[in-house]
Amino acid sequence: MNKDAQQKAPFADALDAYCRLHMVPFHTPGHKLGQGAPQRQRELFGEALRSDLGLMYALDDLFQPEGPLKEAMELAADLYGAGRTFFSINGTTACIEAMILAVCQPGDTILIPREAHRSVISGLILSGAVPAYMESRFAPAEEVSLGPDAASLTAAMEAHPEAVAVLFTYPTYDGIAGKLQEMTALAHARGLTVLVDEAHGAHLAFHDDLPKDALACGADCVAQSTHKLAGSLTQTSMLHCRQGFAGTDRVAAAMALVQSTSPHYWFLASLDLARQQLALFGEAEETRLLALAREARQALNSLAGIRCFGKEILRYDAVGGFDETKLTIDFSGLGLSGREAELLLRKAGIEVELTAGSHVLALLALGDDDRSVHALVGACRTIAAGRTVVTTQGLRDEAPLPVPHVVLPPRQAWYAQRECVSLADSAGRIAAENVTFYPPGIPVLAAGEAVTTEALAYIRGKLAAGYETNGAADPSLQTLQVVRE
Ligand SMILES: Cc1ncc(COP(=O)(O)O)c(C=O)c1O
Repeated sequence: MNKDAQQKAPFADALDAYCRLHMVPFHTPGHKLGQGAPQRQRELFGEALRSDLGLMYALDDLFQPEGPLKEAMELAADLYGAGRTFFSINGTTACIEAMILAVCQPGDTILIPREAHRSVISGLILSGAVPAYMESRFAPAEEVSLGPDAASLTAAMEAHPEAVAVLFTYPTYDGIAGKLQEMTALAHARGLTVLVDEAHGAHLAFHDDLPKDALACGADCVAQSTHKLAGSLTQTSMLHCRQGFAGTDRVAAAMALVQSTSPHYWFLASLDLARQQLALFGEAEETRLLALAREARQALNSLAGIRCFGKEILRYDAVGGFDETKLTIDFSGLGLSGREAELLLRKAGIEVELTAGSHVLALLALGDDDRSVHALVGACRTIAAGRTVVTTQGLRDEAPLPVPHVVLPPRQAWYAQRECVSLADSAGRIAAENVTFYPPGIPVLAAGEAVTTEALAYIRGKLAAGYETNGAADPSLQTLQVVRE
């Protein structure tokens, strides 16, 4: 990494300098630097509207970068050790779609984990690739999925010698990192391209106590939500291709396919600034956050009835690393489900990232400090103080996700004639839509899969526990879109 060059923020500087020219705009956006914006919008966004710009040839072009944006993306590649890095203004969703589009032809088999995010299914619908699922390991005591291990990858590769690529989710939402280096080597030995959904890992490269990042594990293409765990604006991400990856130009073309032709320059400037921040302060910040997380975990574990697992998760064979900045807080010892705990925490002014089974997930990132952590621990202490500790036996209710039975390629199911049937009548039919609870955004059923009794039981269990679906035509899930027979 070139430390001197990393001090710069070429695109943010260029945007700033351009705004200072006070040009009279005869171009989009139509509100013309805020002047014509709705009153409420002006009140909400104020002076910021003066820099609401996108696609200005005076600055640079995301899809044909030649100036400061090219330099900004090169600095990001230099920081992460990539051959080439692409900025995304459409989150990791676009990056995942693009890497699948770049690597898979229609009909190609790609190995994916059970915990594939819904954007992976979108990538399959767009590309026409066919998923073959790798079995995942589950930690029953912690109620979390561990993802696939080397044995499940090998089994999937043997069952699908035709597979051209494999996609891993690394780390999981809960911060659990599989043995990616080993699995990448196994996949490469069979000629598979290795794609990694590292949505929750933009910070991994900056501290040795965090799991090794996917590029360092040898992955070919890595999608990261910079906005999730680094400092950029929501919906901004990066896609990295490793040095020498033969598909890089195809990835560049695919990134242009799945993103707006009018990328907001704030998003691009914020990626540039987040990269600069990580380069200059990443290690110090992650050191601070790890200390904060360790303190929080210790305090949470001292509360009767509350548990927050830590590095002991490494005792499972499938696990190669753990990101301690993820706090999975289990309330089963207080007789609470995760959903109930979430609502109690919300009443106390704490909003968590996700809820499942008997736990909630609180994540620590750059914006956290002693105060936020004390607020979280304090709210948990208050919840614990008002309840009696109960035996945890029988209270855990987060089951592993049902094993998918792929009948049709997702793209074929997407285009098939469909009909709407009651959830009860959908058993044995082929889903024409995804059923996803968000977060974590992992489809329980993806388009093209058989509606199995296990999937129905899982869906009913989630609905009964108060979880809401996202993306289905009937969000109440009384009915389901299935392929017409
Ligand atoms: C594992 C995983 N992959 C991909 C995504 C999509 O990322 P983005 O929201 O940046 O589009 C998410 C979002 O929650 C995710 O959790």
